[in-house]
Amino acid sequence: MAEFTLPKNSKVKIGKTHTVNADKKRIINIYRYGADDQNPRLDTFEIDASKCGEMVLDALIKIKNEVDSTLSFRRSCREGICGSCAMNIDGTNTLACTKAMNDIKGSIKVYPLPHQPIIKDLVSDLSNFYKQYASIKPWLQKEKNNDKENIQTIEQRNKVDGLYDCILCACCSTSCPSYWWNPEKYLGPAVLLQAYRWVADSRDEAKKERLAKLNDTFSLYRCHTIMNCTKTCPKGLNPAKAIANLKQEIIDNE
Ligand code: SF4
Ligand code: SF4
Ligand code: FES
Repeated sequence: MAEFTLPKNSKVKIGKTHTVNADKKRIINIYRYGADDQNPRLDTFEIDASKCGEMVLDALIKIKNEVDSTLSFRRSCREGICGSCAMNIDGTNTLACTKAMNDIKGSIKVYPLPHQPIIKDLVSDLSNFYKQYASIKPWLQKEKNNDKENIQTIEQRNKVDGLYDCILCACCSTSCPSYWWNPEKYLGPAVLLQAYRWVADSRDEAKKERLAKLNDTFSLYRCHTIMNCTKTCPKGLNPAKAIANLKQEIIDNE
């Protein structure tokens, strides 16, 4: 029987433990990966929960400020708007700033977004994701610029609800098995939702070109309706539906 094992240098080892004396403790296990060739490790941090904000991001900031300043993670708005703090918490991709520690039982496990190269600790390299986003030309395209406003009816404007609200956190794409297998060729749910955002916009005049560009074996049709994307989206959006709508648009415009 074939035996599968990870390469030696990718096995996650047990890391350091930082304890604290407190009545109300939380234990946080954080994936660490860094500068040298050493294996990744899982560090354990105990924190005094009575002296910390409620969210996982509050705990990460507390640890960085008070225990280990080398801990690396991205964050900016702290209110679920910028998408920077996307990571895998308690087994699900989500935003650290909107994930309450009280919603997690036992120790809190924090990993970077899955299946992306790691720059350091919880900071994954999203260059490919942004390159794919740029490839769908995410801006309004018109044959010629007029000097007037681009008027929409209320009904037309409603069609981009649930689409324009995407914060490009990449939680959905990095939870999608099809994207794990074909990250270079398959655009993934976040970028496809954004593609549909422009196809659905009545003001845009490049619908045909946009659909033609998606109509190949990989860009769109690697979606197998597994639905991880919709399940994980921390903004409650439905990228799987946007993908289904794109497929329908291609049929309708053939
Ligand atoms: S659809 Fe949701 S999970 Fe995906 S990038 Fe947008 S906000 Fe993030
Ligand atoms: S529905 Fe499509 S995009 Fe969403 S997780 Fe499944 S395969 Fe990926
Ligand atoms: S810090 Fe901006 S979404 Fe979390």
